[in-house]
Formats: sequence, C-alpha cells, structure tokens
Amino acid sequence: MPTLPPGPSSKLWTLIRYLRDPIGCMVPLAQRYGDPFSFPGDPPMVCTGDPVGIKAIYTADPDTFAPLSADLSVFLGRRSMILLQGAEHRRLRKLMMPPFHGARVRAYGEAICRLAERHTADWQPDRQVMVYEVAQRISLDVILQAVFGVSEPERMAGLATLLLDLLNGISPLIALFPSLRRELGGLGPFAAFLRRQRLLREQLDALIAAARVAGPREDILSLLVQARDEDGQPMTDEEIRDQLILLVVAGHETTAISIAWAFYALHRPENAAALERLRAELAALGRDPEVEALDRQPYLEAVCQETLRRYPLAPAPAPRKLLRPLELMGYTLPAGVGVGVAIGVAHFREDLYPEPLRFKPERFLERKFTPFELVPFGGGARRCLGAAMAAHEMRLVLGTILRRYRLRLASLRPDPGKVRAANAGPAHGVRMIVEERLA
Ligand code: HEM
Repeated sequence: MPTLPPGPSSKLWTLIRYLRDPIGCMVPLAQRYGDPFSFPGDPPMVCTGDPVGIKAIYTADPDTFAPLSADLSVFLGRRSMILLQGAEHRRLRKLMMPPFHGARVRAYGEAICRLAERHTADWQPDRQVMVYEVAQRISLDVILQAVFGVSEPERMAGLATLLLDLLNGISPLIALFPSLRRELGGLGPFAAFLRRQRLLREQLDALIAAARVAGPREDILSLLVQARDEDGQPMTDEEIRDQLILLVVAGHETTAISIAWAFYALHRPENAAALERLRAELAALGRDPEVEALDRQPYLEAVCQETLRRYPLAPAPAPRKLLRPLELMGYTLPAGVGVGVAIGVAHFREDLYPEPLRFKPERFLERKFTPFELVPFGGGARRCLGAAMAAHEMRLVLGTILRRYRLRLASLRPDPGKVRAANAGPAHGVRMIVEERLA
C-alpha cells in the first residue's frame, strides 16, 4: 500500500472525540498530523481542509469517486441520488435540478415568512422556547410545502409527524454501526424504524400515484413526475419516492440546525455588537417590507454565511471512495482509499479567517471567499442541491423572527455541539427566553 498521510491510529478514539466535540475535534487533528491527514478505518480516509487540496477534490472528474456509505440505503432507499454514482447520479441530478434554481427558490419566500410567523405566533414574554425544535417545524413545513404543495394541509401534517418520528428514531449508533441494525423480534429501535419507514413509503407511493394522474402543478413532486431524461424517459416511482425522502431528510434538519446556531451565536454576550447591527438593519426596513427586500439585507446575509462557516453542519468529511488514483498535495492516493474535504478544518484556517473561533459576520462584507475556501455546502458534482433554498430560508426565518421578538439565551454555557443523525447540531437545542414581543 503506498504511503498515506499520517493520522490518528485508533478508530474508536477518533470516533469518540468526534461524538464529543464534532466541530472542535478537526483542527487539532490537522495541527498534530498536518494537512492532509488520514482517518483510520477500512478503508482509511484521507482528508484535507487546504484550499489547494479541496480544489483537487472538487475539480477532479466525478467518476473518480464513489459514495463510501452505500449501507445508508437502509435509511434512504436504494435509488437515493446521494448514494448513486457515475451516469446514474448525473441523470438523477439533472432531473432534480430545475426546482432548485434561484428564481424557483425565491418563489418560496412568502410561504417561508408566513410559516416562521405562524410557528412563533404563541411566543409570550418570559416563555422558554427551544429554537432548534421550532426551526425544525418551520423547515419541515417549508420543504413539505415546496415538495408536495399545500393542497391537503391535514395529510401534510400527518406526513410531517411520520417523518419527524422516523428521523428522530434513528440513533447515531444505528446509523454508525450496521451490526446494530437488528429487528430483535420487532422490539428494538431498528424494528420501530422499519415499521415507520413502511408507513411512510405507503403514503408517499399514494401521493406519487395521485400526482401522476393530476395535471401539472408547481410543486417539486409534480415537476419530478413531469421530468424526462435525455432519452425521454420519466423517473420510476421508486426513484421519485427515494428522492422525496432524500429531499425531506437533507432539507429540513440541516437548515433547522443552521438557523438554531445563528440564534445561538447572535445571542452570545461576546457577539452583542453583531446582534445590534443586525437589528438596526432589520428595523430600517420599516413596518411591512417586501420579502425580497428582507432577503437582500447584506448584514443578514453575512450573519448567515458566518454561521455556516463557524458552525459547519458537516465538519467531518463526507466520505468518498477513490475508484482510480488521485494526486492530492504531493500524495498519490491509490484506488480503494477514502478521500474527503474536512470542512471543520477549512473553515478555521487563521490565514483565511483571522480569529477563526470568533463569530464575525463582517469578514463576509470585507472580502469574498472562493468555492474552495468556504465550503458549507460541499462542492463539485455533489455540491448541495438545496444550497440556494437553504440560504434563502435561513435569511428569511432569522429576519422574520428577529423583527418580531427580543430573546436571550437561557444558559450562557458554551455549546460544543453534538452529532444529530449525520449532522453537527447544538447539543441542547438552543433554549431561549422570550424577552419582548415587538410591535
Ligand atoms: C443549511 C442547510 C444545508 C447545508 C449546510 C447542507 C450541506 C450539504 C453538504 C455539505 C452536502 C454535500 C455532501 C457531500 O459532499 O456528499 C449536501 C448535499 C445535498 N444536499 Fe444539502 N445542505 C443544506 C440544506 C439542504 C436543503 C434545504 C436541501 C433540499 C431541499 C438539500 C439537499 C441536498 C441534496 C439532495 C444533496 C446531495 C447532492 C448530491 O449527492 O448530488 N440540502 N448538503
């Protein structure tokens, strides 16, 4: 085996460190072993947070890589785009792109603001709220509306409950250790997961069947039913169902976590100036601003970008397996090893982000970062499909809630984050006290 970059030798210890401090554990590894460094495993995984290495990975021919964690098909379905490779991945990605373009995404703006208002309408002074939970409900409704339209609100509510139960029932242990996925006579957590999954699939299949006979609508499901590939072929029911699940899974908890981190960061006492500056910008919009005006506020955008930098959702590399050798910063990595971008290193480089642990939205007003320096949504052929939608939703939810309420953190204890399903989210969900309802 050719020489790989150095790295820690214990897989278990590295995993424990990741589970304890998902965002903070990456930089010490790069400091100790250098960049690139290797994670132990079978196969080992080489990762980098250096823009030169990141560029080498994101600009390589996509057929260089295969997804490493095909076993996730148990959760996502066999035809989930995120688990496919090569021509199959390209075909599905092309079919899925149109609903996620800028103009389409902006059409969701009004609904996002109304949902943010509705889910916070009962906030009263002195009440404690868990921002992550509220954000999760908002983003779940946003994605359900975008995906299925709003024709049947009650059915959507049922679907939302089913999905939340299903996702919250996936423990990191089941996700990380395939050997624990046993039905145990129908009693274990995995059996419960399978029961919920069956129920969900039945409901989705019924919705797909209905969309096939209905006329064209604007929602994503309808667009997927109408989509045709280069050979004029439609997507199969299984393909559509697995992508619907992927969109809801990839699209709601991710955005909710990032919104919760934004509230957390802004309300830390050391970031009071950032909160004040944002509040001033939002107040200057007057009483009933257009959604587009709210969406275009530069400091609001900088706050969201800084949140995605400082609190990356996927600080550890999304694993890829090399199908052919790759040159990475002086190493010739052989086929068969894993490779990935360590966002938790990239976003904390002193040379790019001075005082990297500080929350400083101003850095995004002062300079632009390349797609190999700032990578919250990944890059290359597998860059997040929902990036524009997520960024749009973050700005509008944050802006809408801050215009209506003053809040403070219920506890000032620093939050190192914890692994929630596959993402690094706030450990305690960001508990806040409502201070004032603004006129
Ligand atoms: C703040 C919110 C979000 C963040 C930080 C985020 C981050 C990411 C990252 C880092 C990847 C790349 C993973 C890899 O390299 O394999 C990814 C992939 C993906 N994301 Fe997101 N995401 C967010 C929200 C969304 C939303 C709202 C949607 C859909 C509505 C979405 C759909 C997807 C899909 C479908 C992929 C797979 C793309 C592919 O394999 O071709 N994400 N996301």
